[in-house]
Amino acid sequence: MTGTPPDAEPADARISASDGRSYWQSISADVNGMLGGYSHISHTDLEGSRAFLAKLGIGTKTGLRTVSRALEGGAGIGRITQGLLLDVAEEMDVVEPIAKFTASLSAHPGVASVSNIGLEEWQPEPDVVYDLVWNQWCLGHLTDGQLVAYLRRCKAALRPGGEAFIVVKENLSTSGRDLFDDVDSSVTRCVAWFGEASFFPFFLFFSGGREREKLTPACEHTVQDR
Ligand SMILES: C[S@@+](CC[C@H](N)C(=O)[O-])C[C@H]1O[C@@H](n2cnc3c(N)ncnc32)[C@H](O)[C@@H]1O
Repeated sequence: MTGTPPDAEPADARISASDGRSYWQSISADVNGMLGGYSHISHTDLEGSRAFLAKLGIGTKTGLRTVSRALEGGAGIGRITQGLLLDVAEEMDVVEPIAKFTASLSAHPGVASVSNIGLEEWQPEPDVVYDLVWNQWCLGHLTDGQLVAYLRRCKAALRPGGEAFIVVKENLSTSGRDLFDDVDSSVTRCVAWFGEASFFPFFLFFSGGREREKLTPACEHTVQDR
């Protein structure tokens, strides 16, 4: 991958799904657990995402539209599903491998399904189409190959002919290479990775993530079905 010395093992080769699952199994099912102790940024994060969706024409204010169905990948306790996505989507599907995180989510009004599997295992239901797919702070658990395949499955599940979006909101490495974190067995990718991902037949939209100044710089990539 870009930035990795040619003779070095790619960062994503070190990802272990079982180590990642073990880590998250040990984490408390609350906002602080989801955000690694940064629970205080949740409100700012959600409001930044709300503003981002408004730029895509999605929201509840005058001139914006709500959507029929959305998917959240790597949803954790449903912080974003409950704090943002259910405001703008009639129905939500949630994918999250750690069952204890989603224990109360399936009973939540508007949540159509909860799948306790990894995104690398997820397959869209043949009869379901999505207007919006939201992925945040979870894609580093997928290897490069798994991530490409997952995004392709997402694209295939977007509502045809409409304005449908895949949002990727992930922290980025600024060191010029992808970084492996052995605490949770995930990778923080550099922006070039997502640039290369433009080989997808998608339109990539970049927007700043200024709200997390104290965290790793992040940006939001929206992959629009075109
Ligand atoms: C930092 S938390 C973020 C949760 C949520 N996206 C949020 O922002 O509140 C990372 C989440 O990714 C989940 N995760 C770990 N491996 C995953 C995988 N292979 N597929 C999907 N989610 C995964 C974890 O269980 C955890 O809930």
